[in-house]
Amino acid sequence: MYSRIAGTGHYVPERILTNAELEKIVDTTDEWIRSRSGIEQRHIAADDQTTASLAIEAAKRAIEAAGITPGDIDFLVVGTTTPDLVFPNVGTIVQEALGIHGCAAFSVEAACSGFIYALSIADKFVTSGESKNALVIGAETLSRITDWTDRSTCVLFGDGAGAVVLQPSTEQGIISTHLHADGQYKDLLYAPAGVSKRPQGDLNKEFAIHMQGNEVFKLAVKTLGAVVKETLEANSLDHEALDWLVPHQANKRIIEATAKRLGMPMEKVILTVAKYGNTSAASVPMALDVAVRDGRIKRGDLLLAEAFGGGFTWGSALIRF
Ligand code: ACO
Repeated sequence: MYSRIAGTGHYVPERILTNAELEKIVDTTDEWIRSRSGIEQRHIAADDQTTASLAIEAAKRAIEAAGITPGDIDFLVVGTTTPDLVFPNVGTIVQEALGIHGCAAFSVEAACSGFIYALSIADKFVTSGESKNALVIGAETLSRITDWTDRSTCVLFGDGAGAVVLQPSTEQGIISTHLHADGQYKDLLYAPAGVSKRPQGDLNKEFAIHMQGNEVFKLAVKTLGAVVKETLEANSLDHEALDWLVPHQANKRIIEATAKRLGMPMEKVILTVAKYGNTSAASVPMALDVAVRDGRIKRGDLLLAEAFGGGFTWGSALIRF
């Protein structure tokens, strides 16, 4: 028994923030942002939008693509670093908005790896027979924890949501998932204020993402290289068997380095970072849905999805679409 992706969806808020606009906010240039990260623009949630509202739209699209109704969903998990509230969790807010009642609904907090973690959990529930239609979402409003005066971080992030529906299948679907974390690097990438820990000072700044970009970059390249190797070895596969790499979209140069390690040409890599920036837990399901809807990813294709983020957390999924 496998769990198989029956439908995908994504949603981004209407407002686009271009590099040219950022040039007016902080001391940066379009050329610097493009050449260092590959990012050209990002979408930013409106004041009345939250992580859950983006997640709801992505979920509706995935449910429609799966050919089911919200009432069929019997398990709901959201990967997010930017929940609407302390509680109720984003999963239950999405659940209520979709008119679903009674099934398990919760959020998973694993920064940019949140969707891969959520997918891995949902896969276990589907393959064990406990769920027939699992809704798995990655959704973020990173703009709400961005310091818009810090040029080293504010140019990188964006808002959005992506979702998939998993169903049981005798055909291959989620073939394997590989989850990892190592808290020893917590000082390289973190948001210092939370619920039970509240430093003094300017709360807007204290809530914001702090990152030693250069160090994170080096470790991300090394770690993602290792996890894609681990995934192929665990399945006795050569990289040539892969049809697509669906990477976390943090930085085009990190993605290129991972593709190079895999021996994959960039034509086989799904890239959305230019348009959407780094949307953390949302980036993998967003990239997946973009490529499914534009016809690049087809039924039967073999995909390798991977992510790396704060914690550090990282992980991968080998998927027969
Ligand atoms: N515009 C112009 N100059 C800038 C900007 C900017 N927006 N930001 C930084 N600089 C300057 C720096 O001050 C530095 O100047 P200096 O040499 O005079 O000190 C110079 O540019 C080089 O800075 P670096 O940080 O070394 O630049 P780098 O090539 O490493 O690129 C970047 C920076 C894009 C942040 C890159 O390091 C990166 O992508 N890191 C990884 C991000 C990531 O993967 N995060 C994980 C996921 S995020 C999450 O989990 C929430």
